[in-house]
Amino acid sequence: MSHATGFDISSLAPLSHLGDLSVAEFITDYWQQKPVCIRNAVSFQEALLEVDELAGLALESEVESRLIENDGDIKDWRVTHGPLTEGDFNKERDFPWTLLVQGVDCFVPQVHDFLAKFRFLPSWRLDDIMVSYATKGAGVGAHYDRYDVFLIQGEGQRLWQVGQTCNENSPLMAHDQLSLLDQFHMTQEFILNPGDMLYVPPLIAHKGVAVSDACVTYSVGFRSPSHAEVLSTFADDRGMDMSADLRLKDCGFTTNSGEISALDIEGLMTLMRDQITPENVAQWFGKHSTEPKHNGLDMAEEAMDLIELESIIKDAYGVLRVSEGVRLAYTWQGDGGLTLFVQGDALPCPPEATAFVEAISNQWLLEVDEMAQLVKNDAAKAMLLILHNQGYLYFADE
Ligand code: SIN
Ligand code: CO
Repeated sequence: MSHATGFDISSLAPLSHLGDLSVAEFITDYWQQKPVCIRNAVSFQEALLEVDELAGLALESEVESRLIENDGDIKDWRVTHGPLTEGDFNKERDFPWTLLVQGVDCFVPQVHDFLAKFRFLPSWRLDDIMVSYATKGAGVGAHYDRYDVFLIQGEGQRLWQVGQTCNENSPLMAHDQLSLLDQFHMTQEFILNPGDMLYVPPLIAHKGVAVSDACVTYSVGFRSPSHAEVLSTFADDRGMDMSADLRLKDCGFTTNSGEISALDIEGLMTLMRDQITPENVAQWFGKHSTEPKHNGLDMAEEAMDLIELESIIKDAYGVLRVSEGVRLAYTWQGDGGLTLFVQGDALPCPPEATAFVEAISNQWLLEVDEMAQLVKNDAAKAMLLILHNQGYLYFADE
């Protein structure tokens, strides 16, 4: 059933990039618990992007990038935040350096496609793919992330060491721009060759050093909201729909005018609790978790009308893709209806369009002839056109 509330992970097909591990073993034994290194997880026929292209992205103002130069002692480590300039790359350096570019999946279709390997995890958890390029001896130092990360070696070799579990009280080195751990207690180390993958759970200390020149690492990061973010963004979302005329009713009086009574507290809790319905939580979370990472994405697709769509269907050529950088997810509501969330908006979906919306949200790419089967009725075609004309979907040759 498409909208089952739970499922049996042991029924999932094995994935070649998890090596000998089944999805069930990976999720039960490692995910969010302990690091694991998978050899030959991916076979790169060619680079997902050329180093020149990566450097080019770092020059763009809408792309988040950093150049970290490791010059001796920690106090001599320099961070230059992007957009970088040609001069930053042309500079002669006799010490190691790393270029890190965030959100590369939002800009490069092949990198976006690479995410298909991680479709065994919920896509709302996905943050981005960061790509780093390092010269021999470079690294960003021992640190921990609050994200789950898959570190995949693209080119060259990198030595990864993993260590202790950290928390917000773990002492950091004195550096005003880098959150580097003061202590690193190595427990395991791995030399990664192209195609090898290391999974590192949140809060686990790790440290990577390029042991070859031209060391390229793809970091696929999975975010998870903090409890504070859950509570504050849910409250903000609910507050937006509420009239200021709605006020707390007095629930009871005590003889002590200085006291906030237990009944007052109970009244406040009832008011809050009444907002926590499956529908309210799903609407808020769908919007919140699909908020775009980059606001200024160029999504100006040519608007298309029904006649043009019919002609694409007739030609039965090409694919329909989710635009790079677009976040989408859906949820089934209690009344059996489906709501699609895209880039922070909620779009209720007519029943005739649900098969199409489910397929594009789960697969991110549909062959035109497969798509044609899903948009046989007017409501589904209209939904497709709305999403296309907003720039969320586009047609391509492959
Ligand atoms: C890197 O690619 O150099 C750093 C990735 C990380 O530690 O998360
Ligand atoms: Co890290």
